[in-house]
Amino acid sequence: MKQIGLVGYGYWGPNLIRNFSELKGCRVKAVADRSAEQLALVKKLYPEVAVTSDAGELFRDESIDGVIIATPIPTHYKLAAEAIRHGKDVLVEKSFTASLSEARRLLALAEAKKRVVAVDHTFLYSGAVQAIKKLIDSGAIGRVQYIDSSRLNLGRIKSDISVIWDLMSHDIAIMGYLLGRTPTSVSATGISHTLRTVENMGYMTLFFGDDTIGHVTASWVAPLKVRRMIIGGTKKMIVYDDAEAHDKVKLYDVGYTVTRDNSQSRPRFDYRRGGVSVQKINGGEALGGLAKDFLRCMNERSLPVSSGKTGLEVVQVLEAATKSVAANGKEIKLR
Ligand SMILES: NC(=O)c1ccc[n+]([C@@H]2O[C@H](COP(=O)([O-])OP(=O)(O)OC[C@H]3O[C@@H](n4cnc5c(N)ncnc54)[C@H](O)[C@@H]3O)[C@@H](O)[C@H]2O)c1
Repeated sequence: MKQIGLVGYGYWGPNLIRNFSELKGCRVKAVADRSAEQLALVKKLYPEVAVTSDAGELFRDESIDGVIIATPIPTHYKLAAEAIRHGKDVLVEKSFTASLSEARRLLALAEAKKRVVAVDHTFLYSGAVQAIKKLIDSGAIGRVQYIDSSRLNLGRIKSDISVIWDLMSHDIAIMGYLLGRTPTSVSATGISHTLRTVENMGYMTLFFGDDTIGHVTASWVAPLKVRRMIIGGTKKMIVYDDAEAHDKVKLYDVGYTVTRDNSQSRPRFDYRRGGVSVQKINGGEALGGLAKDFLRCMNERSLPVSSGKTGLEVVQVLEAATKSVAANGKEIKLR
């Protein structure tokens, strides 16, 4: 039986404690949060769980095997490093750290201490994303030429991190997982209307060193909720609408061919508009899949699907995108 400690019981922490509490083979032993109000909520819902305002208490508790860090991003590095130094495996919320250098140092520390590092890129565990990955890997849509994502809604506006670090981290993680590779360069623009500091809407283009391109639009100030990704392959296309309650993934048998006939002055485009099929997906909660994976890796000492390396790769893109925004969309090389 693995014992788990949770640091941070704000907006996302309750989802983590619920999923880990429902999982066989582990037990949430304690929760740390600076807010007494939040700790009172934990006590009400989970009377058997110990609470403390000092995260250090969890790290020093030798009976705790794994610690989840669900505090704001700027605090991740310090808390996760302290947990690892005390011999804990860690599950860190996205985005992994506030900078690439922090991510590198954290991974080096975890390697030296032989600790498991998982990062909560929740979507990698969702039935929809896994179904899309299967379709792509089976060759059903041909070679992926583009992934275009829109992630818009009204709120939750942040004051400490931009919409790029908050929302686009999902899209970068999903694209990396689906394509099995990371971008070679990135370009981004954004604007801050809200606080005139961190961007509340942004646009990012990811280049992959060939003819595959990714694009993300993200906003906290849109009138409606949009969670839509279009994946264009050379044979077929996929529309993934995460805002839909059902039928989130649809496969479109559409495409085009180009004919270049020397006798004609212009190339000819022929369009194929076939049927649409709804894809069957596993309906389990993604966070439950992540909890299961973290527990498996704690027991087997293996690498999570969403590992520290995944977290680092996402942070690398986020940091480059931030530089690009400051330079009005300049393309920033990643390797
Ligand atoms: N995976 C996802 O889809 C997803 C969704 C939402 C948030 N998140 C991530 O979860 C993390 C937390 O986000 P949130 O929206 O819950 O934030 P939040 O501000 O609502 O909650 C953070 C909590 O951490 C506590 N806290 C801060 N510093 C602390 C410290 N040093 N010791 C103990 N407690 C401390 C605060 O009191 C607060 O209750 C962020 O990294 C965020 O990016 C992930």
